[in-house]
Amino acid sequence: SIYNVILSGGVGSRLWPLSRKSHPKQYLPLFDNKSLFELTIQRNRPIADKLMVIGNRDNDHLSQEVLDKLDVEYLKIVEAVPRNTAAAIAFAALAVDDDDILIVTPSDHLIEDMEAYQIAMKNAIDLAQNDFIVTFGIHPTRPETGYGYIEHKGDKVLSFREKPNHITAQDFIEQGNFLWNSGMFCFKAKVLLKELKKFEKEIYEQSKIAWEVSNNGELDEALSLEIPSNSIDYAVMERSKKIKVVPAKFVWNDLGSFESLYDYFVMNGHYVDRNGNMVIGTDIYTSFVGLQNTIFVNTPTANLILQKEYSQEVKNVYTHLEKRN
Ligand code: GDD
Ligand code: MG
Repeated sequence: SIYNVILSGGVGSRLWPLSRKSHPKQYLPLFDNKSLFELTIQRNRPIADKLMVIGNRDNDHLSQEVLDKLDVEYLKIVEAVPRNTAAAIAFAALAVDDDDILIVTPSDHLIEDMEAYQIAMKNAIDLAQNDFIVTFGIHPTRPETGYGYIEHKGDKVLSFREKPNHITAQDFIEQGNFLWNSGMFCFKAKVLLKELKKFEKEIYEQSKIAWEVSNNGELDEALSLEIPSNSIDYAVMERSKKIKVVPAKFVWNDLGSFESLYDYFVMNGHYVDRNGNMVIGTDIYTSFVGLQNTIFVNTPTANLILQKEYSQEVKNVYTHLEKRN
């Protein structure tokens, strides 16, 4: 079978205060009253024959609401604590048959041009059938430090580098043969598990133990805490020789940080003043004096004033508030 595995366990901390622990960004009904989570399910229905959703216990009711509404068949994995994407993907791969194909998609991307998307997925599935781990490459438009970079020649991957610093990212963009990693992956379950075991034995073993005693897809908290927390990008993509890339022709927006949200809003005609300042979340007249590239975010319970270039650091506010609570 071909599964669409939707990763929905992130809290979206870089979009605080729009995104909150109790209501992560992928569930906000921002697009024609639909959430990114719902749009992700719909987008992959024509491609995959099965659906798997993997997310956190705290947000399970938010996923469930959408699944009930859509009236789809699904398999659900509920994490007791987030252990990052390496573990989440390991659970997904352990839950299916060895030769099943998984199309892993984050739940927080906006994608346009379904035809190009379906062609890319078809190419990826063919490569995955031949035991490759497939990434999708996006043409980079700025030296974003929150993404992975894929050095490539055609579908051949020369190197993969997760979240480089600004200077390195700039260098990659100047070199011209680097693509952003979209964060979506396609592979055969057994191929991914073999690579994970090879490079991160502890994650593999502990995920397996936790998975084996899971109850109806629900993971145990204490056993989950034994799993080292790492992303699949560092754990496998940077190290494996089995990686291929499908350069994407579809339009891809990762709405993961205020910088990417800003770009998306600008493209869609949201107002920015002549110094590049933007207001999000209120229609109240707001004036910026002596400020450039500043984003003001207004919500009923918290405001954020942000210099756009510091978008990656918003998660520190979130972490700080978490500690205080
Ligand atoms: N189930 C589950 N459990 N899902 C998780 C967990 C977890 O513990 N942690 C994160 N996720 C989900 C998030 O909700 C998101 O949908 C996806 O996994 C990716 O996690 P992010 O935290 O958003 O990753 P990132 O944005 O820093 O980086 C990834 O995506 C970039 C593109 O958006 C990487 O793959 C980068 O290489 C890539 O460029
Ligand atoms: Mg992200």
